This record gives sequence, C-alpha cells and structure tokens, in this order.
Amino acid sequence: MNQQSYYRWWQRADLYYQREHLFFAGHPVQGLADQFGTPSFVYSAARIKENLNRLHAALNATHLAGRYSFHYAMKANRFAPLLTFLKQTGLCGIDACSPGEVEHAVSCGFNPAEISFTASSLSTQDLALLARYDGIFMDCDSLHAIHCWGQLKPQTKIGIRVNPAMGIGRAANDKLQYAGEVTTKFGIYQEQFDEALEIAKSYGLTVSKIHFHTGCGYLTPQLEQLERLIAHCFWFVDRVGQVERVNIGGGLGVPHVATDQPLSLDQWAAVLQRQFGARSIQVEIEPGDYIVKDAGLLLLGKTFVEQKRNTVFVGVDAGFNIGPEPAYYDLPFQPVPLRCSDAPCTAVSVVGNINEALDVWYEQAWLPDLAEHRHLALINAGAYSSAMASNHCMRGQFKEFLLF
Ligand SMILES: Cc1ncc(COP(=O)(O)O)c(C=O)c1O
Repeated sequence: MNQQSYYRWWQRADLYYQREHLFFAGHPVQGLADQFGTPSFVYSAARIKENLNRLHAALNATHLAGRYSFHYAMKANRFAPLLTFLKQTGLCGIDACSPGEVEHAVSCGFNPAEISFTASSLSTQDLALLARYDGIFMDCDSLHAIHCWGQLKPQTKIGIRVNPAMGIGRAANDKLQYAGEVTTKFGIYQEQFDEALEIAKSYGLTVSKIHFHTGCGYLTPQLEQLERLIAHCFWFVDRVGQVERVNIGGGLGVPHVATDQPLSLDQWAAVLQRQFGARSIQVEIEPGDYIVKDAGLLLLGKTFVEQKRNTVFVGVDAGFNIGPEPAYYDLPFQPVPLRCSDAPCTAVSVVGNINEALDVWYEQAWLPDLAEHRHLALINAGAYSSAMASNHCMRGQFKEFLLF
C-alpha cells in the first residue's frame, strides 16, 4: 500500500480528513479522544441506519419487496444504546444466540416476537429459559435441540438450521467459514435431515423455516458461491415440502484493505431475486458485520514509537483482547492517524499492550511521523470487537459511545 491509498480508500461522506483533521460522524476525532479518553469505541448512529437503509433499498428494488426481513445479529455488538437505537429505527429484528442475548434484547425494547434464535450446543436449561419467551422463533441446529424443544413446546412451529457442507467467507479465508469440507458443529447435514423431520413430527412440530449461515465477510467476488449455496439449500426446502421462510444467515462483508471493493448490493439482491423470486417464501437475512462494523472506530492512545532491528513499532494503549478479529481471523483493522499530512509515510507495526506474541494490530501500516500525535484510530471496529472483549492481562477496560 502506498501513502495515497492509505489516506484515501476508506474515506467517505462521514469519515474523512478536512484541513488535515480526521472527522467521524460530524465530530473531529481528536476532540472525541480528548473528551472520552482511550481506549474508547465510538459508533455512528447515522452510519448504522444508513447501512440498514442501503440493505432495504437493494431488496426493495427487486420482486422480494414486502417479503423479506432483516434480523440484526446482536453478537456483533450488543452495546445497549446501539440496540435501543436499532429498535427505534424499526428497520430490523434481532438474531440472538444465547438466553442472555435474548434477555438483553428485550431489555433494550425488542419484543420476543421480533427475535429469531439460532445457537449451537444449547443445554436443556438454556432451552427451558428460552421457552419462557412467548413468540420467540427457535431455529434448532441439532437433533438434540429438536427433541428438547418438542418436549417444551409441542405443536408449535420451528426452524431447522442446516449444514449444506459448503462455506463462504472473505477472500476464501477458511477461518471465517462455518461449513465446508471440514465437518463442523453447525446445523443438521443432509444425511440426518430425514431423521430430524421425523423427530419434529413426533412432537407435532411444524418445520416452517430452513436456516443456514455458512460464513462471514463475503464481498462481490464471493457472490457466485452464495448463489450456489442457496441453490443447494433448496434440497432441504423441497424435502420439507413447503416452508414459509428461508433464513440465509449473515456474512455480508465490508472492505478491510485498499484492494477490497465494497460488496455490490445490487448484485447481492439480484442473487436473492434469482433464487427466491419464483418461490412464495419469506426471506430472512441476519447481518451483523455489515450493519455495524464500519460504523465504529476504536480510539487509542499512543504509548511509544521505537525501532527494534528492522521494524519500527508504534505502541498503543489497548490490545487484541478488546478487538480480537485481526489476531483470531486475520482481518486487518487499519490504523489511521487523527491528522494527515503530505509528508512521506513509513511502514510501521502497530502493537498493543498485551503480553502475547499475537498482539499485533497491523503490520506494515503506512503512517506519518507520529512524534506530534497522541492518538491513533482503528477503522472497522464496530463489530466483533467490544462484544468479544476479554479481561486478559487485566486490560479489559474500555469505554463505548454512540454518536448522534
Ligand atoms: C447464525 C448466525 N447468523 C448471523 C451471523 C452474523 O454474521 P455476520 O456478522 O458475519 O453478518 C452469525 C455470525 O457468526 C451467525 O452465527
């Protein structure tokens, strides 16, 4: 990456440099860092709403208008003000994956009937807790879950999460795939599907939904795979005979590096139209990343700059434990300076304050001389960061703010 692309590719109407200063959601970022301190996550309410509106606009331009719905995957970011804001937009329901998430979503204003629940390895106690929420929709992902739910809620409707043994993910990144050649814990495979239907029948359960979520971070080049995947999953739909809904999971990605093109939502919507247009089925989509990831910045304080051997290290005051995606999934969170300049940049390694070798935010980041800088920001920190944070090394402290 060169200096130009470093400063340019991620800029957009609400994240840009003006007279050298970085602005986000209408705020000068230096002012936010000074006011809130670091490490702090800042989320833009307007960007979140814009992301959702863009998704709606893409599907409203197809024959699927009026027969689709979005369920925000709250595992991506469960910050209470953000969830309350989402509820107020009226643009999505919730995809929850634990009893705790359901309770939290309800406390932020969502009605259980707006919640679609999909999880793995549920205990009988989990299921009993979930059964208390009238109207919640259960997607069972194992034979065990169908048995338990059938005992708790006989004669009701359920969904079945299936595993099509095909995955999808950003740039063929295997770490982001939930299904594929390797056998995973997620969903029911073709060869056990008839048994699943028999169990459901034995409790008088009606299978009214087929659900699959097979990977994360897909962009336009992966849309052909998405189409193959959906086409393949009609095998399950046809086996049931008639279902009311198909949930295609989440997985829509956002650009992480200069060479990533944003996902073409027109092409994405065209895939859905081709696959579902001729069938009278409601389509559910449960994105997390796409809705909140690029709506968040992580503000960090600079701790040191020092050359060791052939590498210049820039230290910051938080590590991978509060934003694990770069370390766990090889998903780069690009560091950006709060002030830009025309001076030449140098390639540095941005590292955190955790005693682990994998605590590297970004290698080969082209940054200007940071002598006069007190802070850095990381883009794409709105999803799977604060939500996955741990207190490793007792450095789990951070703050979160929803900006309007
Ligand atoms: C069942 C299910 N649905 C939706 C999502 C959201 O995925 P993403 O944030 O990549 O859109 C996940 C995330 O792993 C998931 O497991």
